[in-house]
Amino acid sequence: MSAFQKETVLSVKHWTESLFSFTATRDPGFRFQNGQFAMIGLEVEGKPLMRAYSMASANHEEALEFFSIKVPDGPLTSRLQKIREGDIILVGRKATGTLVTGNLLPGKRLLLLSTGTGLAPFASLIKDPDVYENFEAIVLAHGCRQVSELAYGEHLVENLLSHEFFGPLIKDKLVYYPTVTREPFRNRGRITDLIEQGQLFADIGQPPLDRDTDRIMLCGSPAMLEELHAMFTARGFAEGNHSQPGHFVIEKAFVER
Ligand code: A2P
Repeated sequence: MSAFQKETVLSVKHWTESLFSFTATRDPGFRFQNGQFAMIGLEVEGKPLMRAYSMASANHEEALEFFSIKVPDGPLTSRLQKIREGDIILVGRKATGTLVTGNLLPGKRLLLLSTGTGLAPFASLIKDPDVYENFEAIVLAHGCRQVSELAYGEHLVENLLSHEFFGPLIKDKLVYYPTVTREPFRNRGRITDLIEQGQLFADIGQPPLDRDTDRIMLCGSPAMLEELHAMFTARGFAEGNHSQPGHFVIEKAFVER
C-alpha cells in the first residue's frame, strides 16, 4: 500500500493572487483530529511532491478542504495552484499536529490566533461541535496585510453563522476578529500588539487575558509565534503537547511550498 492516497479535486476557489482553497474527495479510512495536518501534494515526473497542509475541513465532513498560499516558483504551489475539478492530488494516510484540544488544559475561553494561511487549522476547529461544548467562548483572530486576504475567513465564518443548525449553536460563542496591517480597516495592527495592549479584548467587549480561564492556539509566521510564545510564557502560561497538556499550543503556518 502506498503512503499516499489518490483523491479527486472537487472544487477550487482563488481568493487573491496569492491565496486559494480547494476541496477533494476523502478516503473513508482517512481519520484525523480537527486542527491536525497531513502531507499533501502532486505526482511530478512520477514522484510524489508533498508538503504539510492543515485540514481546513472538519473531521465530520465528507470532503477534504485546504487553504493555500501560492508561492511564485514554489516547487509544489506553482503547480498546485493550477489544479482543476477532476484532477488527482495525493494525500498522506497519516494526520498529525499539536493544535488539538486534547493538548490543552480545560478552560473557559479559547483564543485561536493566526496570521495568513495559519487560519487553516482553525477553520477546521471552529466547525467542531466539541469545541463549543468544551469552551464558553471562542475567539478567532486572523491577521493579514491586506483586507482582500481576509476573504476566505470572512466567508467561512459567515457560512457557519448562517448554517441552519450550527449557526444558532455558535452565534453567542464564536467571535471573529480580523485585523489588517497595511491598509485601512475597522481593526488595525498586528495580533501581538493588539493582545499586548489589551486592544483586542476591548474591541470585542470581553475580559482581558487570564491564565486561569484562557486557552490559546497559535498558528502563523515564525516571528509571530516567537513573540507570542515569549509573551504568554512571561505571563505564566505553559506550552502544551501530546504528553503534557498546557495553557497554549503552537504550530507554524506552513509557507515554504
Ligand atoms: P506586517 O504587515 O506588520 O508585517 P505575512 O503576509 O508576512 O505572513 O504577514 C501576515 C500578517 O502577519 C501581516 O499582517 C503581518 O504584519 C503580520 N506579522 C508579521 N510579523 C508579525 C509578528 N512578529 N507578530 C505579529 N504579526 C506579525
